Amino acid sequence: MDGVGTLGIAPPAANQGPWQGLAMDPLQLPGNGTPRSLRCRVLQSPLAGVSDRIFRALVRRWATDALLFTEMVNATSLELGHGRQKVEELSREAGPIGVQLFDHRPAAMAEAARRAEAAGAFLIDINMGCPVKKIARKGGGSGLIRDPELAARIVATVAAAVRIPVTVKTRLGWCGAPDGDSAALAMGWCRQLESAGAQLLTLHGRTREQGFKGSANWAAIAAVKRALAIPVIANGDINSPEDALRCLALTGADGVMVGRGTMGAPWLVGQIDAALSGLPIPATPGAAEKLALAAEQLRALVAAKGDHGLLIARKHLSWTCNGFAGAPQLRHALMRAPTLAEALALLAEAEAALAR
Ligand SMILES: Cc1cc2nc3c(=O)[nH]c(=O)nc-3n(C[C@H](O)[C@H](O)[C@H](O)COP(=O)(O)O)c2cc1C
Repeated sequence: MDGVGTLGIAPPAANQGPWQGLAMDPLQLPGNGTPRSLRCRVLQSPLAGVSDRIFRALVRRWATDALLFTEMVNATSLELGHGRQKVEELSREAGPIGVQLFDHRPAAMAEAARRAEAAGAFLIDINMGCPVKKIARKGGGSGLIRDPELAARIVATVAAAVRIPVTVKTRLGWCGAPDGDSAALAMGWCRQLESAGAQLLTLHGRTREQGFKGSANWAAIAAVKRALAIPVIANGDINSPEDALRCLALTGADGVMVGRGTMGAPWLVGQIDAALSGLPIPATPGAAEKLALAAEQLRALVAAKGDHGLLIARKHLSWTCNGFAGAPQLRHALMRAPTLAEALALLAEAEAALAR
C-alpha cells in the first residue's frame, strides 16, 4: 500500500558495531485526549520537496516504527483546497506520521490540524524554523520567533483544536544574542513554547540568520534540554550513528532528528535506531542495491506525478547514485534523460556494467 513496489533486494546484511545499547523507555506524549507513545528515538525530519510518501515508504523499510514527517504544509493553502493530498495520503501509510503545518493565522492552523488529525496524523508539528524569506516575512516559519506572543497563541489554539499531541520544530533564535549567549536566548524562547502547550520540541541548533551555515550548536541544545520539562529532540548535522550517539551524549536530548543526511540514504534512520538500541546496524546498501532503489523511486514518482515526477526524481537520483565507480558520469547522464524509459535504461546499463 505504500506506493513503492517490492525491491527484490535481500534484507540488509547486519554489521555488528561497537555500539552501546541505550536502554530508553518510550517517549510518552499525553496529547489532549489521544496520548501517543514513541519507542524509536530517531525521527526523520520534514523536508520540503523531499519527504513525500514515496520517500517515506523507503525510509520506513529500514525504520518500521520511527516517526516520519510530511513535507511542511501551509494551513491557508489547505483552507483554499491546495495541498490536501499531502495530508490525506498518510492514511494509507503504516507507522507514525506527523503532519507539519506552517502559517501565521491561528484559526487556519487549528482547522488544518483538525483535517490532519482526521486523516490519521500521529501528531501535529508546528514549523517555527523555516528560514525562507517569503514565509518568514509573512510571520510564518521562523518569522514566529520574532513574535513569541503570536507563536504561543498558535500553539495554544492548535492544541485546543485536536486530541493528538502538538509539537514545535524551531531554531535557537532569529539571530545570535548581542552578548553571544545564544543558549540563554534559546532557553527563553523555548520555555515560552513549552508554557503555551507544546508537548515536544525539536531544536535545530542554528539561528535563522545562520540558515544552514556553520556547525549546529549542540551545547545550546543541551542548555535548552536542561531548562525544559517536555522532551527535546536535537537536530542539526547528525549524519551517522556515531554523530547521533555523540549528540545524545553531549545534549542529553530525548532523541535526534535527521534531515539532509537521509537525502539519498533512506536507510540512515534505521541505522541510527539500531545503534541507539544496541542492535546490529543494517549495512549501507552497495552499488547494485542503490541502483535498484533509484529505479524504484523513479518509477513510483512518475507513476504518481507523471512528467513532473521525472523532474522531482532527478534530485533523488543525484543523491542516491553516489559512492561507486562510474557514479559521476551516471548522474550527469540521468540529469539529462528526457523520459522515464531513457532514465531507466541508464540505470540498467550501470547495473550491467557493475556485473562485468
Ligand atoms: C531540502 C530541505 C527541505 C527542508 N524542509 C523542511 C520542512 O519542510 N520543515 C522543517 O521544519 N524543516 C525543513 N528543513 C530543515 C530540516 O528539517 C532540518 O531541520 C535541517 O536540515 C537541519 O538538520 P540536518 O542537519 O539533519 O539536515 C529542510 C531542509 C532541507 C535541506
